[in-house]
Amino acid sequence: MKPALRKVVFPVAGLGTRFLPATKVVPKELLPIVDRPLIQWAVDEAVAAGADTLVFVINRNKRAIADHFDVAYELEDTLVRREKHDLLRVAREVLPAGVETVYVVQQQALGLGHAVLCARPVVGNEDFGVILPDDFIFDRQTPALAQMAKVHAEHGGAVVAVEPVDPEWTSRYGIVGGQNLSADLVKVSEIVEKPAPADAPSNLGVVGRYVLPGRIFELLASTQPGAGGEIQLTDAIAALIAEQPVHGYRFSGRRFDCGNKLGFVEATVAMAMEDPATAQALRASLPAIIDGS
Ligand code: G1P
Repeated sequence: MKPALRKVVFPVAGLGTRFLPATKVVPKELLPIVDRPLIQWAVDEAVAAGADTLVFVINRNKRAIADHFDVAYELEDTLVRREKHDLLRVAREVLPAGVETVYVVQQQALGLGHAVLCARPVVGNEDFGVILPDDFIFDRQTPALAQMAKVHAEHGGAVVAVEPVDPEWTSRYGIVGGQNLSADLVKVSEIVEKPAPADAPSNLGVVGRYVLPGRIFELLASTQPGAGGEIQLTDAIAALIAEQPVHGYRFSGRRFDCGNKLGFVEATVAMAMEDPATAQALRASLPAIIDGS
């Protein structure tokens, strides 16, 4: 049987200040990479991992995310009347049949750990996935969370996505330390949120994909504010290490940090190159655009 993660949590209550003024009204998760909003790429990845319940942790400024996944009756009706069947399918496939959405409000921005804890009433005591949509990961074969679901089915406990980061940038990530079990798997013995390079246990940075046991909620509930004064998911995972195996998984695929402009633009170019509608023409026009000629 294909390992499935039924519930996936999307913490999407962040401010998105790096993209102002674009994010003044539009949630950053709705900014498109080519023609799909970031959150749509994340949802597609969750569904590919077997998810049938998508839990969005939002705030009052993120209600447009719920609109995006809602049925757009007027649009669909118009497309039906105009016999635009392909577009109709695109509009409907935003949320595949049998997949449900749940919206949970994070009333105070107390950190990623707190955001995940807000999903507790929906997730309960099950194993679940977390996707941070800012970390956009593209793999032509198997989306990252599905890769991780497989690792989780084999090893249980928790699985966090990791990749080597520039040693000078450890203070931007959760960093894991531990024993290499294979080329793509680390048995994590230590995890630290945003350490200075001198304090980092390695240069393996946590990327925004997690498979976690329901137990994490109890640990989060007693996690005190950590780095940046926020309740950190990393600190609850650190507490979990004493109880259950925690693995770092070096996913295959390319990750783009869409929390900043450069990563966002790179992701856009990469996905436009994957799209037969734009690839050839873009390949021809990019050199001149880059040279400014
Ligand atoms: C969060 C996590 C951090 C992780 C990062 C990945 O940090 O706290 O451990 O490495 O996501 O993107 P943030 O980027 O929200 O500051």
